[in-house]
Amino acid sequence: MATCAYATFDDPDTHDDERELALAAWREQGIEGRTERWDDPGVDWSAYDAVVVRSVWDYVDRRAEFLAWTRRVEQVSRLLNPASVIEANTDKTYLRDLGVPTVPTHWSAHDLPRWDEYVVKPAISAGARDTIRTTDRDRAGAHAAALEAAGRTPMVQPYLDMVEAEGETSLLYFNRRLSHAVRRTPMLTPGMTGADNARAEVRTPAPDQVELAEKVLAAIPQALLYARIDLVRLPDGSPAVIELELTEPYLYLRYEPGAAASLATALRELL
Ligand SMILES: Nc1ncnc2c1ncn2[C@@H]1O[C@H](COP(=O)(O)OP(=O)(O)O)[C@@H](O)[C@H]1O
Ligand SMILES: [Mg+2]
Repeated sequence: MATCAYATFDDPDTHDDERELALAAWREQGIEGRTERWDDPGVDWSAYDAVVVRSVWDYVDRRAEFLAWTRRVEQVSRLLNPASVIEANTDKTYLRDLGVPTVPTHWSAHDLPRWDEYVVKPAISAGARDTIRTTDRDRAGAHAAALEAAGRTPMVQPYLDMVEAEGETSLLYFNRRLSHAVRRTPMLTPGMTGADNARAEVRTPAPDQVELAEKVLAAIPQALLYARIDLVRLPDGSPAVIELELTEPYLYLRYEPGAAASLATALRELL
């Protein structure tokens, strides 16, 4: 029986509500999963056939430490996704090099374009942390300047109101096979909290969205146990990548019967 670590920052019984579902599906495939805190110095990672990166949501403030951990684990076990994928994916400057349409982004606090409404966020973030939405160009510039002053790379984007209408679409791929897609909850509307990030509904992706997602995947040579490709539509209706989640995505496993089993199958294939 293979044994895999499920790397989290949670205690075994806190709020990663996909963990039990994932581990039960692994068990069905003959994979014993053990929950480990990624930063626990007492863990012998070499005891695992693979270490699966999951709810490591605290990496944002400790990225260097987290990346050092991924490299260390990779010396002694199979890290999924691989350390090189995670290093590139935890800084959204990767969006500049994807070679596919992405949300228009101004990467500086200076000379902001004139848009009706702005989103300003740091390039290293998760869960819309330190992200603002404003119609005030000066306020957008000030937030971007504050990020720069703190040594962070700002991203200034037009606010795309389609996230409240059609909604952002996330496509979930396990070992490069499409498992399911969901319509996300818009996060920059009043009253949203981190918990709302887990609210979604299953949707059938449009052909142009699948085509774009698969173009992105085709450009990544490394193994990908999981990939979540988050898409929006630009004002002209064409699809664009808002984010590529290859590190610690919420996988919306409980929205689609069979999704947890597909993840377990993908893991078995990669062992
Ligand atoms: N330009 C934008 N227009 C509209 N909504 C946005 C925009 N950028 C981000 N958002 C909202 O904020 C959420 C988080 O932003 P995202 O870029 O995905 O970063 P992260 O998920 O890493 O915090 C998105 O899912 C979306 O709801
Ligand atoms: Mg996101």
